[in-house]
Amino acid sequence: MKDLLSISALSKQDILRILNLADQLKFDLKHGIAHRTLEGKTLAMLFRKSSTRTRVSFETGMYQLGGHAMFLSSNDIQLGRGEPIRDTARVLSRYSNGIMIRTFAQSEVEELAQYADIPVINGLTDFAHPCQILADLMTIRERQTVLEGLTLCYIGDGNNMANSLIAGGALCGMKVRVATPKGYEPDAGVTARAGDALTLTNDPFEAAKGADVICTDVWASMGQEAEAEKRKQDFAGFQVNGALMANANANAMVLHCLPAHRGEEITDEIFEAHAGEIFDEAENRLHAQKAVLEILMG
Ligand code: CP
Ligand code: NVA
Repeated sequence: MKDLLSISALSKQDILRILNLADQLKFDLKHGIAHRTLEGKTLAMLFRKSSTRTRVSFETGMYQLGGHAMFLSSNDIQLGRGEPIRDTARVLSRYSNGIMIRTFAQSEVEELAQYADIPVINGLTDFAHPCQILADLMTIRERQTVLEGLTLCYIGDGNNMANSLIAGGALCGMKVRVATPKGYEPDAGVTARAGDALTLTNDPFEAAKGADVICTDVWASMGQEAEAEKRKQDFAGFQVNGALMANANANAMVLHCLPAHRGEEITDEIFEAHAGEIFDEAENRLHAQKAVLEILMG
């Protein structure tokens, strides 16, 4: 493993290695056992979009591992004034030991990785959100013990979250069911690679039937603000609510990468009833990313 650009670029062994180390790091943190594996190392964090969890968990993770993280908003660095990504990659490679980037196009992350001599981590693109899915798989495994054989259901937009959940779920031996409105399907390459592991439908109730985990995400992602009103209409009926949950397994978990829009993709009632696992999921970003940082930069 040189970079973390997407879940599809990982093997099942890579994922299990990250999840096992993440569990260990979480246990050790709670028991006061320090890991100073990145002493003297720095992570450059490039952001072209907003963030709460990704920024804070990477910054905290680097600190806990003995290193340092630099928050670089594209508004404040020369990248935002048009300095090419390939030059930014080569400059940052002379100062830092790793780069995390949150941006729009997946191709920008790929180009950054091509020109950087140091590991590159995708902190969300329009196509993928691999760090989030590692935390999601960690959270599911914590509560269900195994991933293999579980039914993972995603309701909503065929976006970065959908693409990465499909890839991660299929790699880990889960049955993945995805329900989107017509015209909002996930990436065709991702769905083709998932093969028989994936069921795609436009019927949320069919997707949720007997599922062990129900996931959802916002209807309008960052960069799609102008479409928000149209999307509210197109996604009516694709809400995680009491009726939908009644169709899932009795003990089904609910996951949401956050931020959530209560009353849109999820009701307040279901969100609060599952706040335990949703905020474990947010916490696990820290542990899963520390595992990635140790593996790539240690
Ligand atoms: N889930 C997630 O990536 O959150 P942020 O946008 O706050 O980083
Ligand atoms: N799909 C959302 C996820 C946010 C963490 C977005 O891209 O805005």
